Order: sequence, then C-alpha cells, then structure tokens
Amino acid sequence: MNDHIILGIDVGGTAIKGALIDVEKGEQVTERLRYPTPQPAGPEAMGKVVLQIVEEFKWQGKPIGCGFPAIVKKGVALSAANIDKSWIGTSVEDVFGRVTGCPVYAINDADAAGLGSVHFGDGKDVEGTIILITIGSGLGSALFYDGNLVPNTELGHLYLGGRIAEHYASVSTREAKNLSWKDWGKRFNKYLRHLDRLFSPDLFLLGGGGSNKFDEYADRLKIKIPVKPDRLFNRAGLIGAAYYARLQLQREGNEYTLDNLS
Ligand code: BGC
Repeated sequence: MNDHIILGIDVGGTAIKGALIDVEKGEQVTERLRYPTPQPAGPEAMGKVVLQIVEEFKWQGKPIGCGFPAIVKKGVALSAANIDKSWIGTSVEDVFGRVTGCPVYAINDADAAGLGSVHFGDGKDVEGTIILITIGSGLGSALFYDGNLVPNTELGHLYLGGRIAEHYASVSTREAKNLSWKDWGKRFNKYLRHLDRLFSPDLFLLGGGGSNKFDEYADRLKIKIPVKPDRLFNRAGLIGAAYYARLQLQREGNEYTLDNLS
C-alpha cells in the first residue's frame, strides 16, 4: 500500500476535532472525532483531549499535523484570543508531543484550512490573491498569493467600525446576540468589503463551521469578486493540518507512508 496517512487535529475555541487524512488525496479516511474544548483551554487540559484522540486512532508515535487557533511560529503559540492566555510563549508542538509521544507539527488553524483549500479544494490552481476566512468561535484568515501562504495574518483582529472584527461577525457573536444567519450575513458583508478595500483579492473562500450555512446568508453578500464556501467546508482545517505535517516531514527528509508503520 502506498497511502500517506497522517492524523490531522483541528483545535478550535469550541471543539477539538481529529481524523486520519490521506495527504496524497487530501481526503479524510476515517470518521471525525469531535470533543468540546475544555475550559479553561490551557495546555494540560487540551493535551488530555489530544491524547484521547490519539488513543482512539491508536496513533501513538506517529505524526500529527495540528491547526491551532493562535499565531504560531516555529510551533510556539504567540497569541491567545479564544484559548487560555497561558498558551502565549508555549510550544504547541512540545506540549502535545510530550503528552502523546507523537511528532507534532503545528500551524495556525486558518492557515491550515488555507493549505487544505489551495492544495485540494477551491483554492487549487487559482492565480493571484486569495483570502480564506474561517468562520467559527473567532474569525481566522489565510492569505495566499499565487498559491504561496503569508502566514499568521490574523485578519479577524482588524478593527471594523471601532470593534475587533471577530467580536462583530463571528459565529460566537451570532449566537450570543441571537442573530439570524441573514442578519449575521449583513455584518459579514461589511467585513468582506473592508478586506476587499485593503487587499483587492481575486477570490474569497470560506471555511469553518459557518461556511456550511452559506446558502442562508449568501444573498446578503454584496461583493464584486467571487465569494464561495470552499468545497472542503470545515474539513479543510483537518486536511490542511495533516498536509502541513507532511510538508514538514518532507523538509526533514522523512517520507512517511503506511508501509513504514508496521
Ligand atoms: C485567532 C486566530 C485564529 C482564529 C480562528 C482568532 O481569534 O486569533 O489565530 O485563526 O481565531 O480560530
């Protein structure tokens, strides 16, 4: 067998998800496990959930790609908007690596979704500037030019009308304010227009839980350039996280295949 399988983990402010991913095909090959993100969402409590996912997939000692909801540089979290502040300055790769015994490769969660989209989804072979926005507990962003990622853009933290954009137009805000998807869509439209003015992208792609509801708010989006939910929807994050691990393993000269698992 020549399948390339890696465990993708998508850590979010609300849930931690995991699935085995075929990183050649960009496909989920198992069901997706989903556990609530513990509160407070600190390293120890989150590590336990990641370990549980590893154990359920019997994945001890094998590589993991992890999308994480923070600025992530060289595996270290440098911000903490929707997770416990104790993550700031902490290595996601070391914490999850130690608890699971697996090599862990961590990347910002929206950047992971973007990689998924650009390699296996609607971002594939698109020239010019793409912005992918993940709609969840926060607003995540991934910026690509000709398929190349500019990491950690954090466009959910731009100011919009005096407020932080993700406080105005995330799924958590929609739920907290009891907004219909249509009313939320008007807010999201303002956000996309702001991004359009700043970056003049060629395409907006949407990921995260809110991308599944696109049909309910699409008519509120008055943007000249195309806006579409990536066909991978919220699977893009898991697929892209696993793909990122594969890229890092290849950089280390370590080709990972099912053949060398036994
Ligand atoms: C974080 C980002 C993350 C986004 C989506 C934001 O609050 O700052 O790093 O990508 O939420 O999870």
